[in-house]
Amino acid sequence: MLRLASIVLAVVFLVLPAASPSAAAEVDVTATVPFQKVYTPLFGFDNILRSSDDRTVSLLLDRSTGSGFISSSMYHHGFFSASIKLPSDYTAGVVVAFYTSNGDVFQKTHDELDFEFLGNIRGKPWRIQTNVYGNGSVSRGREERYVLPFDPTTEFHRYSILWTRDAVAFYVDDIPIRHVSRSRAGGDFPSKPMSIYGTVWDGSNWATSGGRYRVNYQHGPFVASFTDLALAGCPVDQMLPARGCAEAVAASDPAVMTLAKLQAMRRFRERNMVYSYCYDKRRYPVPFAECDIVESESKRFKDSGHLRLALRRRRTGRRPGRAGGAKADM
Ligand SMILES: *[C@@H]1O[C@H](CO)[C@@H](O)[C@H](O)[C@H]1NC(C)=O
Repeated sequence: MLRLASIVLAVVFLVLPAASPSAAAEVDVTATVPFQKVYTPLFGFDNILRSSDDRTVSLLLDRSTGSGFISSSMYHHGFFSASIKLPSDYTAGVVVAFYTSNGDVFQKTHDELDFEFLGNIRGKPWRIQTNVYGNGSVSRGREERYVLPFDPTTEFHRYSILWTRDAVAFYVDDIPIRHVSRSRAGGDFPSKPMSIYGTVWDGSNWATSGGRYRVNYQHGPFVASFTDLALAGCPVDQMLPARGCAEAVAASDPAVMTLAKLQAMRRFRERNMVYSYCYDKRRYPVPFAECDIVESESKRFKDSGHLRLALRRRRTGRRPGRAGGAKADM
């Protein structure tokens, strides 16, 4: 099954570019696969529900356990994507994650790329967090948080992680929301093969307002559904020449940052980013090399790295919260 995916990628890379330069990118991005072709259950087996065509998997969190899946292969570079629908209503403390990691294999020097969805109390939006670790940089978290310009609980939206030799990009639908170049992240850039994971778990201790609101199982089970699964990557257990595959990924459509995409990314970040490690002067008095400190943007953030409250209210269209509501940013 994976062999087929690799062969397709190899064929695309070797044959199609001459005839049709954009064909490789199209195949990479849109080819979706059944769950069993690329993933396997990881924990909470009874809480993993698969559709009859195996193209949609629902992960449940209830009193007994959360649940999760892992890719059958590890990948060295690739485009990893899923359309996800998040649990609705009261979801404080619930964490849904779609991420890549090799923490099980390289415990001291692990790499990781995260989409984490942080549930909230009723009526407040989910927050989405991205993070990048490389070579065990666990003491240098690079968290960014955003509110979404749509309700992620009413329909599926696509979340994608692109990892090439040169850069990492996080996409929400067709919009890149974050781009990290290897040259600037240096030794903290992911460099070793990673597995892909989807999970839902109880993050009561930190997910919502720093643990102020815990999971309330009266509102469960909490269901996160994943569909449109796409893993266009370089599996390390295949004989495919690694160099050719990495190049195909680096040349794929999501890896090409057009001016229009860069503008869309800037707009998204201006409107939706509510926390950035780059502006968190308390944690990191000296920003990391990959941080672009834009003076006008910097003024919108407090020294804690959170968006100033007045701006956030306006941007998320919410009413002012109760006294102390500012803490709800964590
Ligand atoms: C990874 O970190 C170790 C220390 O934990 C360091 O010795 C090594 O040089 C680092 N590797 C890279 C590629 O930066």
